[in-house]
Amino acid sequence: DRNIKIAPSILSADFADFGREIRAVEAEGADWVHIDVMDGHFVPNLTFGPPAVKAFRPHVKTFMDVHLMIAPVDAYIEAYAEAGADMITAHVEAGPHPHRTLQAIKATGKQAGIALNPGTPVEAVEYLLSLCDMVLVMTVNPGFGGQKFIHSQLDKIARLRGMIGDRPIHIQVDGGVDPKTAPLVAKAGADVLVAGSAVFKGGSVDQPGVYGENIRSI
Ligand code: DX5
Ligand code: ZN
Repeated sequence: DRNIKIAPSILSADFADFGREIRAVEAEGADWVHIDVMDGHFVPNLTFGPPAVKAFRPHVKTFMDVHLMIAPVDAYIEAYAEAGADMITAHVEAGPHPHRTLQAIKATGKQAGIALNPGTPVEAVEYLLSLCDMVLVMTVNPGFGGQKFIHSQLDKIARLRGMIGDRPIHIQVDGGVDPKTAPLVAKAGADVLVAGSAVFKGGSVDQPGVYGENIRSI
């Protein structure tokens, strides 16, 4: 059956040591590295600009998955592509023209993702799938790590799986993914699981093995 990828989110990592954290989590089994970009406008938190993402790039050996929780988004796509993102995911709610946004991401040569907040129906991406390499289903309201999984999204994941069929489009789930909720989202049809607190909590770069244990438990 589908092989599940784990994408640790560095939002839950040590903000004073991203290079080491990225290398540690990749050495211990991360399939992708999930970078949460927040602008303090689309979401109530502020994180990484293009210069920071550029600084992360040399430390990422797997796949740099950049989640843009910003609005407006089009003006920054080029900069995050230049910074080295492998996948650029924009929110369908970030503006009136998500179709054009996805075209702009594809034009950079990067993979393109579209993200849905918990309140957004799956139909919102129906006419965008032809441009997508991935659909991200938020299972928390974006802005912070360590929040509670929103179970109503399981139905959305299953419906999205039905909509996608066997097209090569990833379903990524993001927020509150842990050993309890991971099997539920995998069963519903997700194949890329983002996990921040479930990977980084209780560990540190100075305790080899903890990140690996946490990743394998998901
Ligand atoms: C939330 C971010 C998520 C978050 C996940 O806005 O998009 O990627 O970092 O953190 P956990 O896994 O702790 O919910
Ligand atoms: Zn995210």
